[in-house]
Amino acid sequence: MYSRIAGTGSYLPEKILTNADLEKIVDTTDEWIRTRTGISQRHIAVEGETTTDLAEHAARNAMAAAGVTAEEIDLVCVGTTTPDLVFPNVGTLLQDRLNIHGCPAFSLEAACASFLYALGVADKFVRLGDAKCALVVGAETLTRLVDWSDRGTCVLFADGAGAVVLKPAEEPGIISTHLHADGKYKDLLLYPDGVSLGFNLVRAGKAGVRMKGNEVYKVAVNTLGQLVTETLSAKGIDKSQLDWLIPHQANIRIIEAIAKRLDLPMERVIVTIETHGNTSAASVPLALDAGVRDGRIKRGQLLLLEAFGGGFTWGSALVRY
Ligand code: ACO
Repeated sequence: MYSRIAGTGSYLPEKILTNADLEKIVDTTDEWIRTRTGISQRHIAVEGETTTDLAEHAARNAMAAAGVTAEEIDLVCVGTTTPDLVFPNVGTLLQDRLNIHGCPAFSLEAACASFLYALGVADKFVRLGDAKCALVVGAETLTRLVDWSDRGTCVLFADGAGAVVLKPAEEPGIISTHLHADGKYKDLLLYPDGVSLGFNLVRAGKAGVRMKGNEVYKVAVNTLGQLVTETLSAKGIDKSQLDWLIPHQANIRIIEAIAKRLDLPMERVIVTIETHGNTSAASVPLALDAGVRDGRIKRGQLLLLEAFGGGFTWGSALVRY
């Protein structure tokens, strides 16, 4: 038994923040942001707009694309770093919004790799016969964690959500998932406060994403390079067989480095960073849905999804769409 992607969906909040807007907030330029990151604009959740709000739109779009009703969903698995509440978890809040009752619903957190982790977990539920219709979401309001006075990070992050519906299939589908983490890198990219630390930095107005960008960049390129090689060799697939690379959208230069490693021309890479920014857990399913909806990604094609985030955490999926 395998799982297959029956439908995809996504959602971006309406409010757009351009590089010109950021020039008014911090000492930066449109040119610096575009050349160093590839980002021109990003979508931002307005006050009161939550991760669950974004997830609900993306989930409904994916369910419509898959042609499934709420009654059919028997697993809700959400990857997010920015939950509305400490509890109930976003999976449960989303389940309630969709009027689904009784099935397992949870969220898991692996920073920007959260969607790949959620996909890996849900795939196993389906493969084992424990779920017949799984809703898998990556959703973030990451701009809520940003220090808007730190030009090194505030220009990068954005909000959004993407979703897929997984159903059982005799043929893959999801051929394999590969999940990794190494906590020794915890100090290179983090949000330095939380529940059991007492939110003291938040209270003092000193919280915010902290990143040693240069060091993250080097480890990300190296690690993702090894990850794509591992993913292909696990199933004896040659890089020339790939139709599409669907990477986490953190930095265009990281994306180009991985495409080069795979000998893939950029025409076969789904790139959304210019208008989406880095939406963390949402970036891969947002890019997947963009490629599906504009007709580039077609049924039967071979896709490689990959992401890298704080922890560090990283993961990939090889998918026959
Ligand atoms: N505008 C203008 N100048 C800036 C800005 C800005 N927004 N940000 C930094 N600078 C300056 C720095 O102060 C520095 O100035 P200095 O030389 O006078 O000291 C100079 O630009 C170079 O800074 P670097 O940090 O070396 O710039 P770099 O080329 O590395 O680009 C970037 C920074 C874009 C953050 C890059 O390092 C990167 O993309 N890193 C990886 C990010 C990533 O992949 N994150 C993982 C996923 S995110 C997640 O998990 C939540």
